[in-house]
Parts: sequence; structure tokens; C-alpha cells
Amino acid sequence: MKHIILIFMSLLCFSCSSKAQKQTVDKNTQSDMKILVAYFSCTGTTEKVADAIAKAIGGKLYQITPATAYTSADLDWNDKASRSSVEMATENSRPELGGETIDIKDYDVIFLGYPIWWDLCPRPVNTFLEKYDFSGKTIIPFATSGGSSITNSVKQFKKLYPNLTWKEGKLFNSGAEKAVEWSKQIIEEQ
Ligand SMILES: Cc1cc2nc3c(=O)[nH]c(=O)nc-3n(C[C@H](O)[C@H](O)[C@H](O)COP(=O)(O)O)c2cc1C
Repeated sequence: MKHIILIFMSLLCFSCSSKAQKQTVDKNTQSDMKILVAYFSCTGTTEKVADAIAKAIGGKLYQITPATAYTSADLDWNDKASRSSVEMATENSRPELGGETIDIKDYDVIFLGYPIWWDLCPRPVNTFLEKYDFSGKTIIPFATSGGSSITNSVKQFKKLYPNLTWKEGKLFNSGAEKAVEWSKQIIEEQ
């Protein structure tokens, strides 16, 4: 009888400790921080990465939407007169935004995704950064591109918005899986 009670007790202990361990793991992946994953995307590449990040870390997905959508002619970088070429050649161009507005004060951390345009972020991303108050928030840039790095766009953010808190940015041209790992790691470190 003594033996049976001992076995029962140790089984109970094991079940308690594995439950505690599971709760710790769940807590680690489900952060208490309020996370926004804001992105701009015209052809869906950055959107896929943003969506995967938001799902992985429990962030709210928010699309930065221009008031007037970009047509494929607008995106023609070979045409100097196309909308994107003109905007990118004009440093202070700030295309108007449409879509839903967002309460940035509800969030602690903002993942900011965009495609690289002419080695920078598209100008609507600047409109977004200037439209809302990001002070006290941590902003983590990520991007997709045809090959260019994210470095120059992040350098420009730091130069234009030196009072904001910028984390090192990362480029994801090889799909969303790496972005998922990266974003989880960042949240664990916060
Ligand atoms: C107007 C324009 C300019 C671009 N400039 C660059 C560039 O300088 N370097 C680069 O590697 N890719 C460039 N690209 C390619 C995009 O960064 C790439 O296709 C990106 O993944 C598109 O993201 P999206 O599908 O989310 O819009 C450019 C694309 C467009 C439309």
C-alpha cells in the first residue's frame, strides 16, 4: 500500500512540474507587450512576411494604405515620369494615406515592413511615420527587395526621425520562415 501511495505521489509531482513547464513555454511565446505589425506592400511580398510575423508573435496586423492605390504603371521604375519614380525623386513627397486610422498609443512595439524602393522606403511609409506619434515606442523595421539591402532605408529613418527608438532592421527575401524566427527572438529579448 505504501508503495502504491509513493508511486501515486510521484506521478502527481511529475504532472504538476510538466504543467508548470508548459505554462512557462506558452508565456514566453505569448508576450504581454502590445505589438503592432504595420506594413506597406504593393505586390504582396512584404504583406506575406508581415502576416507571418503578426501570427507568430500575436501582433495586430495593419496595412499602411495610400489614399490612391498604386497601379502597375505607377510602379514602373524604368519610367522616370511614373508616380513612384517622381515620388522617390522628390525627397519631401508624402503621399496621402487612406484606410483605417490606428491608435498608436495602444502599442508598445511596432514592426514596420515595406519594400525597398530606390534603396529607401516608399514615401507613404514616411507619411505614416509623420502622421502618428511614435515617441516612447520601439520601432523594428523589416523589408523585402529585389536584392538591395535594408541598410540605407534604416539610416534614413534614423536621420529623419532621430527622436524615435529604432531597432536594427532586417531584410527577408527568402520567405517568411526566417522572419518568424527573428520576430520571436526579438520579442523574447524585449
Ligand atoms: C518603384 C520600385 C522601386 C524599387 N526599387 C528597388 C531597389 O532599389 N532595390 C531593390 O532591390 N528592389 C527594388 N524594388 C523591388 C521591390 O523592393 C521588391 O519587388 C519588393 O519585394 C516588393 O514588395 P511588395 O510586393 O510588398 O510591394 C523596387 C520596386 C518598385 C516597385
